[in-house]
Amino acid sequence: MDSYNIVGVLGRGAFGVVELVRDFNLKKLAVMKTIHIKSMSAENVKEAIKEIQILQMLNHPNIIKYYNSFQNKQSFHIIMEYAIHGTLENFVNKCSLTSKYIAQNCVLNILSQVTMAVDYIHKMKIIHSDINPMNILLTGNQGTVVKLGDFGSSRILTSDKIVGENCCTPCYMSPEQCFGKPLRLKSDIWQIGCVLYYLITTKHPFVAKSLADTISSIVEGVLSISEKMNFYDRDVIMLLHELLNRDPTVRPNASAILSNPYILPYVLNSNCHWSKSGRKSLNQNY
Ligand SMILES: Nc1ncnc2c1ncn2[C@@H]1O[C@H](COP(=O)(O)OP(=O)(O)O)[C@@H](O)[C@H]1O
Ligand SMILES: [Mg+2]
Repeated sequence: MDSYNIVGVLGRGAFGVVELVRDFNLKKLAVMKTIHIKSMSAENVKEAIKEIQILQMLNHPNIIKYYNSFQNKQSFHIIMEYAIHGTLENFVNKCSLTSKYIAQNCVLNILSQVTMAVDYIHKMKIIHSDINPMNILLTGNQGTVVKLGDFGSSRILTSDKIVGENCCTPCYMSPEQCFGKPLRLKSDIWQIGCVLYYLITTKHPFVAKSLADTISSIVEGVLSISEKMNFYDRDVIMLLHELLNRDPTVRPNASAILSNPYILPYVLNSNCHWSKSGRKSLNQNY
């Protein structure tokens, strides 16, 4: 703990706090996620430790990098990369104050970077299960590098689905999660669809007065149509509907999304930057 100096609070979650810290070993700013384990059951502590185990396995330009972790009797702490431009939710809120809609190239750039992260974890049989705009972070000089964070709900698949794990942000729940059916990789694809809906409409999908109403809109597939959809190409709206297909077997997998003609140019662009310089540089100005 002596190696870190707390600079401020970035967010608070169900199990603890996320703080900005100065890391004296790395000589840079980092994020410390503290999870209070004192009042947790042994089972929940085991679950919480999974976040560290999964983060340690990951190394991808579109995923928040794990640096270190340590534990005491009361809590454990995860030290990770700091995304200087904050959450996708903040970004969309700011955009909706200044313009009518988010430019299609910006939407597709963000979508492609999130999907590249998801394609990477899915190839490792890891399911994130809580993809939403508060867990997608922006960084890089101009905030155009997109990183997936918060692996607190993620799981490693031992068969092709997981039974009985159904915690995520309610309006981003997939129909199978609502029905209490097993989680599968395709549940993450539904959530990518929800993020695309959010980028297009600047509104969260399936929001209703109560949790019960939210669940019934999800399972009935009642997606509010927004006039902002008219600003986007028909193929982009078609992709949105494919991602939000209620039947998980019909949803495209992450690799198929990346080879969509609307997404592929962003993927190729990012790959060529990585291979030239060994790291991603800015590829679109928005
Ligand atoms: N690496 C990071 N860089 C910047 N902000 C972060 C980072 N990680 C988390 N945050 C902020 O803290 C909030 C909560 O973190 P998160 O890991 O999602 O915890 P929880 O499991 O409580 O949802 C995020 O929504 C974001 O605002
Ligand atoms: Mg979170």
